[in-house]
Amino acid sequence: MHLHKYEKIWLVFGTVCLIAFLSIVGVNAFAHDHTPAGGIETIDPEKVRETAPFNEPGVKKLDDDTYQAAIVASAFAYDGGQTLTVPVGKEIIFKVTSTDVVHSFTIDNTNVNMMVVPGQVTTKSYTFKEPGKYLIICNEYCGTGHHFMYTEIEVTE
Ligand code: CUA
Repeated sequence: MHLHKYEKIWLVFGTVCLIAFLSIVGVNAFAHDHTPAGGIETIDPEKVRETAPFNEPGVKKLDDDTYQAAIVASAFAYDGGQTLTVPVGKEIIFKVTSTDVVHSFTIDNTNVNMMVVPGQVTTKSYTFKEPGKYLIICNEYCGTGHHFMYTEIEVTE
């Protein structure tokens, strides 16, 4: 088979580019041990129920001004313990993870809108300014029950 000179040049150029590209991708993926950048907290999605704080989901007082709310998302519900109740005007640190697929943790009328990825612990701190009941909904399509995936958080005086 006879290849035209320019065809050869482009073939070599294409191959070199492909190798260079794959090396960059490979080196980046393996150099960081597959952990996403930015110090994301990881968790074994199979062992969520045995891993603190998700072994006891719910609200815990950390100090006078800070509370932690550990919530487990799974198709198609949020487990935030018996009652998801937090005080108004205090910092609430939400820690959410998923046992199965990607969900979201979105609190209506707030700027809390986080993606919940299996294998990761998503953290967001929020201080409610108004007491009342807030709807928590899933914004990521996660399966047939996606539209029924919601819960409520009560913010008390
Ligand atoms: Cu969970 Cu949509």
